[in-house]
Amino acid sequence: MCGIVGYVGDNKSIEVLLGGLKRLEYRGYDSAGVAVIDADGHLATRKRAGKLQVLVDDLAAHPLGNGATGIGHTRWATHGGPTDVNAHPHLSADGKLALIHNGIIENFSELKQELLDAGAVFSSETDTEVAALLVGREYEATNDLTEALRRVVARLDGAFTLLVMHEDQPGLVVGARRNSPLVIGLGDGENFLGSDVAAFVQFTKRAMAIGQDQIVAIRPDSVEVTDFAGAPVEVEEFEIAWDASASEKGGWSSFMAKEISEEPDAVANTILGRVHDGVVTLSELDPIGDEALADIDRIVIIACGTAAYAGMLGKYAIEQWARIPVEVDLAHEFRYRNPILTSRTLVISISQSGETMDTLMAVKFATAAGARVLSVCNTQGATIPRESDAVVYTHAGPEVAVASTKAFLAQMTALYLIGLHLAKVRGTLAAAEIRENVGELQAIPAKIAEVLAVSQAEIGQLAHWMTDVQSVLFLGRNVGFPVALEGALKLKELAYIHAEGFAAGELKHGPIALIEPGQVVFVIVPSPRDPDSLHPKVVSNIQEIRARGARVIAIAEKGDAAVLPFADEVIPIPLAGTLFEPFLTVVPLHIFGMELAAAKGLDVDQPRNLAKSVTVE
Ligand code: G6P
Repeated sequence: MCGIVGYVGDNKSIEVLLGGLKRLEYRGYDSAGVAVIDADGHLATRKRAGKLQVLVDDLAAHPLGNGATGIGHTRWATHGGPTDVNAHPHLSADGKLALIHNGIIENFSELKQELLDAGAVFSSETDTEVAALLVGREYEATNDLTEALRRVVARLDGAFTLLVMHEDQPGLVVGARRNSPLVIGLGDGENFLGSDVAAFVQFTKRAMAIGQDQIVAIRPDSVEVTDFAGAPVEVEEFEIAWDASASEKGGWSSFMAKEISEEPDAVANTILGRVHDGVVTLSELDPIGDEALADIDRIVIIACGTAAYAGMLGKYAIEQWARIPVEVDLAHEFRYRNPILTSRTLVISISQSGETMDTLMAVKFATAAGARVLSVCNTQGATIPRESDAVVYTHAGPEVAVASTKAFLAQMTALYLIGLHLAKVRGTLAAAEIRENVGELQAIPAKIAEVLAVSQAEIGQLAHWMTDVQSVLFLGRNVGFPVALEGALKLKELAYIHAEGFAAGELKHGPIALIEPGQVVFVIVPSPRDPDSLHPKVVSNIQEIRARGARVIAIAEKGDAAVLPFADEVIPIPLAGTLFEPFLTVVPLHIFGMELAAAKGLDVDQPRNLAKSVTVE
């Protein structure tokens, strides 16, 4: 959702702001705007509904002046439709102060009434304009932009990141945050603010993450962080691990195509440095400590969307290896149902962005209830890791396409490593068994590469003949079930068609009623080699739906002859142990979602209505 960029430095603010907004486009938005101080020292703004390119073209036709101070915003509409007027920045009554906002000001109606009573005039329908008018009023009273913002944030309820600049204060941008993201980029004679490090990674690798309820004032040569009460705050610097080029599309047709091609690396890089002589060593868990980990009696995994499906797969692995009961809950369901948490509960939150508001709120709730919280996250400097006791970072690199792909595989990898670490400290697996599973995990990247090489063209063809299909079902059992859910989610997100994933065992309890001639069903088939395999049961399911006219596309281990007579298409995957199959079976489904969206002429990277980081509840 909304992307934010702030800049003070050389006379290149427009270039920095538009570059930053471009890199934040992935968050999802429907309008964009900038404010700068122009060559005459006046505050100038430009904002346009639609894609960033509309703003870029407008600025090319009618330039604003590339001043040394600026703020930029991509808006994902909440209060008021996506129009030019509702786009940010919003201005103070005298037009000298510009403000941008990410989040929701929950008490905006009361504040708006107060301003209306005092004679204020509003030009938009947004909650944000209230903040702009209030900060403008406080600036008139104080002549101090930081103090003005501090006074206003004390009156706001809800979640927000706010950035302000004033034409009488060139070389200064002030930001404040509560429950919405904001990170600082440290340059040489220039400084940056952004919703995440992607906003400025092309200019600097040095960054600082600020905490909740803090205010930051950036000038070209200084960065000052205080809390909402005005007390100075020490902030630690970190180096951005991402390459600027990693968030570029390169020669790929879409970010998603690029990111699917990076799935082998996402797994390999997440393992890197965490395995020594076949033993998993997660020093990141030290803040919790092996003693406490050995003592936990329950794990609750919380996440949203694709991350929750990675969590479901984590459950299979952790229960199997560490013999601890694991529940998986959608963060928004968990948070509002008074869950049972004790000091022996380990809550594992999973979030690519580290900013999903539902997950963040669940993390805070769990911490307040006395549980230990471990986060699995892909983004340095994000909020959720800061609110957790410990963090295991996934090393998938920046994920730009809204629909998550490589991060899903990296999240699974992190969870499997956590499962093996827990098995070690709890003594539930022998060293040889751990080594064997580590070996399986280390072999996965090459096998994913094989799936990519073999199935890409075939799935592209499948997608082309399916552009008119109205509904697709996905069936899977055991670890194939979350994969079925993930396959269905990708089709909904990307191709806008009805898709549902089912546990194959449920088939006869309802879903089979949906089967009619021509119904497309993807079936995730377990390996026939495992003596405890559910393979025969899934093959029976295939026969049952085939008998009713379904068009079956099976994702099955290569050489699985039992499937061939009953499937219209078979997508072969390499051999792997049961728990490791999802790393491979999910890959064709990621490709299929992308290819079907592309074949339908849809925007693969930025599907309608969706945001990559859902930063409001
Ligand atoms: C949004 C995205 C999904 C993602 C989910 C969770 O809904 O569209 O692709 O899986 O958020 O995001 P997170 O950053 O918390 O993993």
